[in-house]
Order: sequence, then structure tokens, then C-alpha cells
Amino acid sequence: MGIRITGLGKSAGSRVVTNEDIASFVDTNDEWIRTRTGISQRYFTAEGETTATLAADAARQALKHAEREDVDMTAVATMTPDTPCPSTAGWVQGELGLGGGAIDLNAACSGWVYSMALCAGAIETRALESALVIGAERFSYILDWEDRQTAVIFGDGSGAAVIERTEGRGDLLACDLGNDGSIAHLIQIPAGGARLPASIETVEKRLHTVDMAGKEVFRVATTVMVDTCRKTLAKAGVSVEDVAVFIPHQANIRIISYAIEKLGMPEERTVVNIDRYGNTSAASVPIALCEAWENGRIDEGDLVLVAGFGAGMSWASALFEWSLPR
Ligand code: UT7
Repeated sequence: MGIRITGLGKSAGSRVVTNEDIASFVDTNDEWIRTRTGISQRYFTAEGETTATLAADAARQALKHAEREDVDMTAVATMTPDTPCPSTAGWVQGELGLGGGAIDLNAACSGWVYSMALCAGAIETRALESALVIGAERFSYILDWEDRQTAVIFGDGSGAAVIERTEGRGDLLACDLGNDGSIAHLIQIPAGGARLPASIETVEKRLHTVDMAGKEVFRVATTVMVDTCRKTLAKAGVSVEDVAVFIPHQANIRIISYAIEKLGMPEERTVVNIDRYGNTSAASVPIALCEAWENGRIDEGDLVLVAGFGAGMSWASALFEWSLPR
């Protein structure tokens, strides 16, 4: 018994924002952004679009693809929820008229892989029969336009998968989840929670935007990305050569290049779309997965390795044996 992925969907903010656009209000330039991050453009939300609307958009496509009207659980991985309460998943469920449970999960950019692993576990214990596993972010509203490290890399988007129980061999072969709380401070939104509630002072000090120690995060990311992939492959008893498609978190092209070199993963088997989407945090892996499948890069029987890392500092990877036909 295991889970099968039966539907996929993706969405992004409806405004295309180029590097030149960013450089018109932040002290940066197209050449720096392209060469240091691999990003050419990203999507930002327009009026009326939120994390929940992006999530619902991707979820609608995934449900249609799976030919399902409902699921037992709507799980939204996000670090940019529409409201602190209720969950973004609650808003999504309401918008789509779904039943079952609804839950948000915050493991930052690793969130969708975490959510996939946990929902799959719940299906395998028969607590659920099906789930919508969504990663959705509206990063544009938590960016500090005076911080050129973060302002240039993030974007808004969402990706979703429907998973269902199968009595046969499941798609999810192995996964690895981890976090190092001793370096939790490396990426944070300092205010707006119980530790430092919103006040005039927190707004004036710009403490509601994301603060990232870019260089340190870069260093940790390159290590954990490689380690988590190796652990998942070892658990499944397969080697890098067996992997047909690798979908890494799209944080920085230099992190991806470093990781694939260390892993011995050929470039042509690695999915990269950071040039068009930027870093969409929890949405990055499911967007890239959906796009790779839509573009015919994944065949039935392929081993597909996905990996994320981000605030927490968290990391996660999973290996699928693909069964969704084109
Ligand atoms: O999603 C998961 C978590 N996030 C990540 O994985 C992000 C990890 N970190 C990174 O991707 C990179 O550290 C950044 C893209 C954030 C920054 O790139 P970097 O190569 O680490 O830049 P740096 O801080 O080492 O700065 C290098 C130079 C500096 O100039 P000097 O001192 O050498 O003259 C910076 O002032 O680049 C300058 N710089 C910029 N210049 C133009 C830094 N940011 C910018 C910018 N535009 N946006």
C-alpha cells in the first residue's frame, strides 16, 4: 500500500516583474541578478490575488486533473499565510467548496515536501484516503524594498498535487526531513507573532519583512541539499545514476549547480525554472514538478527526486517512482 500522485496544478501571480523593474526601485541591476542568482523575472500578485487564491488556482487544476471533486485533507505549505488565523487551507477549502480537514504547514521552502511526506504517512495509516498537497506563497508582501539581498530573489506562486491511496505499489519510495533550530535566526520575519506583536515601533523598524543572512544561508543550503538527497537515495537503495529527473528547490542557480556537481547529477536531468519564477519558497518544488511533467520530461516508471531547504533551517527530500501517465 502507498500513495499515487493523480493530479498536478500550478499558478503564479499575474504580474510579470523583470529584473529591470526591480532595479527601478532597488539598488541593483539586471546583470548582477542574472549572474548571481540565475533569475530573469518573477511573478508578483496583482490586486485581489493572495496566497489562498494562488493556492486555490493550482488546487483547482490538480483536482480536475485527478478527476476528483473532493479530498479528505487540504494541506497548504506556506510561510506567507493570508491570515494568522484561520489557516490559509481553510480559506482555500471554503473557496473550492471542499470537505475533509484543512491544515497549514510552515517549513518554509521545504514545506511542500514535508507536507507530502506527512499526508502520505496519514494515508498509509488509513487516517486519510486522499489529500491535496499545496505549496503557495505571496512573498511580494513581506519583502523589504530597501534590502537588495531579498528583494531580488523571491516571487509569488503555487503548486499542487492530489495524492490518493493505492493498494498497489506506491509512488513515494523514501523521504528525509530535517531541521536545525540552532540556526533558526538565519531567515526570519522578526515581528507580527507572539514573540514580538505588531506595534507602531515594529512597523517603523521594518520588522515585518523577511530578514535573511544570505551568505550563511547559501553555505548551509549547499550542504543540506546534498546530504538530504543522499539520505533519501540510500533509504530507497538507489544511486544518483538511477534518478531520471531531479527537482531541486529553486533558490539560487549557484546553489543548484553546486549541489548537482557534488551529487554527480547530470545537468540535463535537473529541472531549472528559477530564471522565470525566481524563488517561490514552498511553491518552488511543486511548480517545477508540474512544469516538468507538463513539458513531457517525466515518464511513467521514472525515479523523480525532489529536494527543498529554507527557513528553520529546514530541509527535505523525497523520491518518487512516477506512475502518472502523460
Ligand atoms: O529559499 C531558501 C533560502 N534562501 C536562499 O537559499 C538564498 C541563499 N543566498 C543567496 O542566494 C545569496 O547569498 C544572495 C543572492 C542573497 C546574495 O548573493 P551573494 O553572492 O551571496 O552576495 P553577497 O552578499 O556576497 O554580495 C556580493 C556583492 C557585494 O558587493 P561588494 O561588497 O563585493 O562590492 C554586495 O554589496 O554583491 C553586492 N550585492 C548586490 N549588488 C547588486 C548584494 N546584493 C546585490 C544586489 N544587486 N541585489
